[in-house]
Amino acid sequence: MRILITGGAGFIGSTIAEQCVSAGHDVTVYDNLTTGNRANVPATAGFIEGDIRDSDRLLKAFKGIDVVVHQAARVSVPDSIADPVGFWDVNVVGTRCVLESARRCQVRRVVLASTAAIYGPGSLDAAREEDAPRPASPYADNKLLNELDAAYYGQHLGVETICTRYFNVYGPRQRPDSPYAGVVSIMSAKLRLNEPLTIFGTGQQTRDFVYVEDVARTVLGFCEIRNAVHDVINIGTGEPTSLLALVDTLGRILDREPRLVHAGPRPGDVLHSVANVTRLAARTGAVPATPLDWGLSRTLDWIGGSVGQIAL
Ligand SMILES: NC(=O)c1ccc[n+]([C@@H]2O[C@H](COP(=O)([O-])OP(=O)(O)OC[C@H]3O[C@@H](n4cnc5c(N)ncnc54)[C@H](O)[C@@H]3O)[C@@H](O)[C@H]2O)c1
Repeated sequence: MRILITGGAGFIGSTIAEQCVSAGHDVTVYDNLTTGNRANVPATAGFIEGDIRDSDRLLKAFKGIDVVVHQAARVSVPDSIADPVGFWDVNVVGTRCVLESARRCQVRRVVLASTAAIYGPGSLDAAREEDAPRPASPYADNKLLNELDAAYYGQHLGVETICTRYFNVYGPRQRPDSPYAGVVSIMSAKLRLNEPLTIFGTGQQTRDFVYVEDVARTVLGFCEIRNAVHDVINIGTGEPTSLLALVDTLGRILDREPRLVHAGPRPGDVLHSVANVTRLAARTGAVPATPLDWGLSRTLDWIGGSVGQIAL
């Protein structure tokens, strides 16, 4: 298959690119390198430096492509609150350009990255795809609009679309020094450098941490399978992990006693977030299952090899 990955120089996109190459597909990455890194792109994949809002460039890039895996986005929730118009431009206009170019180039399928942020402030119940969306940031609102756009292109314009709602993805290449970094990469890097870890709130807040290679494998599956077209699907493990349990596991792996600094809860912080994975299991026959301590060890190995180059 000829697969083009927008945002394929980033954390998740480059892992998807790697797995697509390993599976024997012809892969092209399309990325403007704002947060991505050219070095993340597999050597045998093609690379086009371009912006997803540049329709002319997209139309050239999409010629002959079977599946577009759309990962490019601005991804920081706080930044989206500070710059809602800029986020709209990249995430909403950019995604519309991707879908429209796919339609015009007769790309068969677009698999789009969405987010658990769509579920909003969170409850102890596992989030189901049919739950009412409660986006609480411009970023979450952008992604919900992307899903609506995908449904429109899917149901009315003949492009097969699948939206994947990622929960907390972690793993190698998630840069801990970036404002976009997730809690795992930040905590891992600080612990490795023996720096204190700040816990906002009680530390009992939970997240569904899903290993990036599991996510990539699932997305690759969605490039091929027939029974998920026009679906919105959670990608998580279904297992909640508290922040304190995460820190404990990291400390055990590194054989270090974490030094914790407690701070008040951050406004707008989601208390609990875990995926209901019934639909994912029904469509793919599998649920991400990399054990947290194994995935964290791989993440720490990567950070250990790269903290020298990363200015923390
Ligand atoms: N990391 C997570 O836990 C998580 C959770 C939910 C959803 N997501 C979604 O997954 C996708 C990938 O996120 P990530 O964590 O790998 O982030 P990332 O920042 O590592 O990757 C995003 C990539 O998109 C590229 N990009 C940004 N703006 C662009 C533009 N205008 N044109 C072309 N390329 C552009 C960046 O250079 C980067 O390579 C995003 O759509 C994000 O919203 C991530």
